[in-house]
Amino acid sequence: MKVDVILGLQWGDEGKGKLVDVVCPTYPIIARFQGGPNAGHSLVIHGKKMVLNTIPSGIFRDGSTNVAGSGMVLNPVGLLREIKMLEANGVPVKDRLVLSRRAHLILPTHPLLDAAMEQAKGDEKIGSTLKGIGPAYSDKTARQGIRLGDLDNGRFDANFREQIARHTDELNRHGSDLSELNALCDEWKKSLDEIAAYQRADTEFFLNKALDRGEPILAEGAQGTLLDLEFGSYPFVTSSHTTVAGVCSGLGVAPQRVGKVMGIFKAYCTRVGSGPFPTELNNETGDFLRQTGHEFGATTGRPRRCGWIDLPALRYAIMLNGVTDLIMTKADVLSGLPEIGVCTHYRTANGRTPYFPSDLDGVEPVIKMIPGWNQSLTESTSEDALPAQLLRYIDLLEDELDRPIRIVSVGPDRRQTIHRR
Ligand code: IMP
Repeated sequence: MKVDVILGLQWGDEGKGKLVDVVCPTYPIIARFQGGPNAGHSLVIHGKKMVLNTIPSGIFRDGSTNVAGSGMVLNPVGLLREIKMLEANGVPVKDRLVLSRRAHLILPTHPLLDAAMEQAKGDEKIGSTLKGIGPAYSDKTARQGIRLGDLDNGRFDANFREQIARHTDELNRHGSDLSELNALCDEWKKSLDEIAAYQRADTEFFLNKALDRGEPILAEGAQGTLLDLEFGSYPFVTSSHTTVAGVCSGLGVAPQRVGKVMGIFKAYCTRVGSGPFPTELNNETGDFLRQTGHEFGATTGRPRRCGWIDLPALRYAIMLNGVTDLIMTKADVLSGLPEIGVCTHYRTANGRTPYFPSDLDGVEPVIKMIPGWNQSLTESTSEDALPAQLLRYIDLLEDELDRPIRIVSVGPDRRQTIHRR
């Protein structure tokens, strides 16, 4: 059996949460492989909006097992809050959630370090979600992080104190306000004690054994390919591996066990935080996309930057991930625009290119305008009901990207999903 993957092809916020929920009925196990509470996966379940930051989006499905993999970083305070929200909504989290003992912990000082480092960068700041992701992964890479499984060894408390003392020195050098630190540490420890009552496992064995038994797994990505630490628009990226490679390193499954790779993209493009964005629209059309698409961060509430679809970026993401199937979301947001822009190439100092270069400085988009449509799509339930202009847009994208678009999402609800033949 294989691990199928669902991941974002742009700068995150492509609608992965909803789509995982839509495709997960055929997967008894859903596993997140990287990132942490910087993610905000929004789902509408029975008309109610829920946002998941850490827990995989399969958690709402009866009989599912949801794994937070070893490539993730977990903050006990936020995780417990998320668990309580789900339990208050009747979700039996204890039965459905398994946390990797290898996942690293975001300490109470990591978000403070994130804020201090961002402030020190001034105009060059990344636009981080300030959830402590970068500092937690930095400690992991420097081999001084604390893992969830370390709870079970006798050195945990001493280790925690040592790390907090080291971080405190650094925060003092930045001149950070540490008046709340003791209270934050108390809350963190209390939350961790409660989290300890949930299932913890060496999830790499759990997942490989499930595959051996013939149970398929859905690996759920967070953020997007263009925020990948290796291949994204560095340094304006996150600190984890958001591409398909992260599935192997973040879940402990071998590459030959990876099956379908479903790449999600919006019918346009957004980015939150700083960094290059060649197709950005700083005009009325950008405002229209932001307002109509409710493009405000699920985690931070920040307005997202909006622009036209970027084919060089999508071709690059498809190549990096070995995408087999495409899923297009938020097509409904484009309704009402007389024309839609498609960036087919970039203009660079060395001429026109269909590729996404390692340095986007000075890159100009080459935009082709195509006719839009007026009709609202939110009630459409089949491909036949879609306007001809949208079908032509889909044809154009399939031609340019050389992959089939299997699903078109036309609204946030599970039911607003068109499966294509
Ligand atoms: P960090 O991962 O919080 O350090 O943020 C690094 C960059 O990634 C910033 O530009 C964030 O806005 C962006 N980012 C992080 N997580 C997400 C996400 O889930 N969706 C979109 N952008 C994100």
